[in-house]
Amino acid sequence: MNALVVGGGGREHALVWKLKQSDLIKEIFCAPGNAGIQAEATCLPVSPTDIKGLLTLAKEKQIGLTVVGPEAPLVEGIVDRFTEAGLTAIGPSQAAAQLEGSKAFTKEILESAGVPTADFKIFDNPGDALNALAGESYPLVVKADGLAAGKGVLIVQDSEEAERAVRRIMEEKAFGEAGNRVVLEEFLEGEEASFIVMTDGETILPLASSQDHKAIYDGDTGPNTGGMGAYSPAPVIDPAMHERVMKSVIKPVIEKMNERGTPYRGILYAGLMISDETPYVLEFNVRMGDPETQPILFRMEGDLAETFLDLHSRQLHKTRLSWNPGSALCVVLASKGYPGHYEKGKPITGLETLEGQKDVKVFHAGTTQNERGEIVTNGGRVLGVTALDTSLKACRDKAYQAISSIHFEGMTFRKDIGLKGIQRETTS
Ligand code: AMP
Ligand code: GLY
Repeated sequence: MNALVVGGGGREHALVWKLKQSDLIKEIFCAPGNAGIQAEATCLPVSPTDIKGLLTLAKEKQIGLTVVGPEAPLVEGIVDRFTEAGLTAIGPSQAAAQLEGSKAFTKEILESAGVPTADFKIFDNPGDALNALAGESYPLVVKADGLAAGKGVLIVQDSEEAERAVRRIMEEKAFGEAGNRVVLEEFLEGEEASFIVMTDGETILPLASSQDHKAIYDGDTGPNTGGMGAYSPAPVIDPAMHERVMKSVIKPVIEKMNERGTPYRGILYAGLMISDETPYVLEFNVRMGDPETQPILFRMEGDLAETFLDLHSRQLHKTRLSWNPGSALCVVLASKGYPGHYEKGKPITGLETLEGQKDVKVFHAGTTQNERGEIVTNGGRVLGVTALDTSLKACRDKAYQAISSIHFEGMTFRKDIGLKGIQRETTS
């Protein structure tokens, strides 16, 4: 059958790369894709939120399997529309995608399912939110309710900063309609981890654990980004913690969604803060993580297309996932200025020197080809250099070694991806 991957970032490049290895897939399409994906699939210029356009494309190209990368089309109901048209699309329904689409909805689910999460208050008008600030303890986390591309979370140190954050979200509408409601949340300290599962609503299959690096600068400092690097497995999720997350977070939420009549089928990503050995939910994503997908799929053995088809036909109990026993790590190369303003169109050199290298893969994110046929930067996150080896230290060395061959003007990246994991490995 033919497959379609919706999206055009590093996650989608990894999905295309992995699906292409399946014997079940004849031709693979990506909308809109990027310069790296173009070398492995047919890219078509349809936006991920143009659901009508994607439906037309899927019918025209006789797509048997559609995998949706980003959250926006899921929250807008792409899976419902594809299902109505008799097409197979992987991901939750619009109702279930509220787990990412609304932080207030998520908090209500977590509370009613008894899942550990930071204490919170929800406000739907700025006056009430501002009045509440004097009584809060600081630091405090101020979150826009809706989708804000990972940028709608502001950590504030005092009530003045909190007031600016509330006004920015609710009055200035810095994140648009996402700021119609605001969540004030207790600040949690601990170590973050990403716990991602596949579920057909009955069977729950955890993917390999991973850890993201959200802040732009080394030492987890500076503003939050979509993610500057990730590795898998994450030593913070040891077997006991794995059990705890499944039992106290994932299962109760899947059960609650079934109980509400909005069963969750697709990929569910829990962003966790491990604090005093307790996994607190910071957020859910209704899709794979970016860049977590890159190291996770780099370690995944077996047929991803078959797994997705089993998920869709609610036969996930038949699937066994297996992982390379080593580690994989991805370092994101970003444009200077990201996550703020950055320039595009900078030629990228050195990529060809890494082609065909065993256990190293450069997944493209914000790249395109210019009229001269050069690969140039086209986004904040540009490339995800990913390596696999027997240990976290070895794959980390390999990834940074590979980066030394790549160049573009203003290329920035974190130098400390994976260090926390290595430290944990050596102390345990
Ligand atoms: P979210 O989109 O809700 O995951 O938030 C983005 C990032 O903000 C998280 O990955 C954390 O680094 C940070 N964050 C969110 N909520 C909290 C919290 N309650 N306590 C501490 N840090 C948080
Ligand atoms: N890397 C975090 C995310 O995908 O939301």
